[in-house]
Amino acid sequence: MGEKSFGLNMSNYYISKEDNAQVTTLNLFDLGLEELSKEYYASFFKTKTKKDEEQLKIRDNILKEVMYCDKLVFNVPMWNISVPAYARMFLDALSIPGKTFQYKEDGRIQGLLKDIKVILISTAGGYNHDKHSLNLMIKELFELIGLDDITIIPLYGSARTNYDNILEGKKTIDKIF
Ligand SMILES: Cc1cc2nc3c(=O)[nH]c(=O)nc-3n(C[C@H](O)[C@H](O)[C@H](O)COP(=O)(O)O)c2cc1C
Repeated sequence: MGEKSFGLNMSNYYISKEDNAQVTTLNLFDLGLEELSKEYYASFFKTKTKKDEEQLKIRDNILKEVMYCDKLVFNVPMWNISVPAYARMFLDALSIPGKTFQYKEDGRIQGLLKDIKVILISTAGGYNHDKHSLNLMIKELFELIGLDDITIIPLYGSARTNYDNILEGKKTIDKIF
């Protein structure tokens, strides 16, 4: 968060490397996302309060932005060994049965999105390896909806060190371009 954010520095650096890209930025804190009602979940999505209707519109707009992009740069910090609630709600907006994935006759899941490259800017105060729960969960969720071209840009140890990590992250991005 804010201009000292490791993730934001890194996503801006990544985007600055793209030539002629049309960029849409979604700040997940500013979209008005809130959790859906217990009635909505208890009825398996059939009962919707007025607030649910509003929330579903916000989520639908998020999904449209993502469905029609070529590349998604997703900047997410680890919070309490998981994703922040706003990032969780963003991911929920993307995983919609019938729209982004479906169940096949044999019960297996088929992702319905394709041709979107995902760049996951993954930050954490600790850690020194990529295979932690946050990355695995996000990777699995993107795969569920059909997106399996995922590049992880790790920025770990922000609590222990200083902006050296950002230099390391930039080197990772430089290798991609
Ligand atoms: C509420 C909160 C919870 C956090 N929980 C963890 C955690 O469980 N594990 C960890 O390694 N870092 C944790 N951190 C540290 C952040 O992941 C780290 O500071 C990261 O660099 C934040 O990203 P940013 O610099 O883009 O804001 C937490 C930070 C906050 C604010």
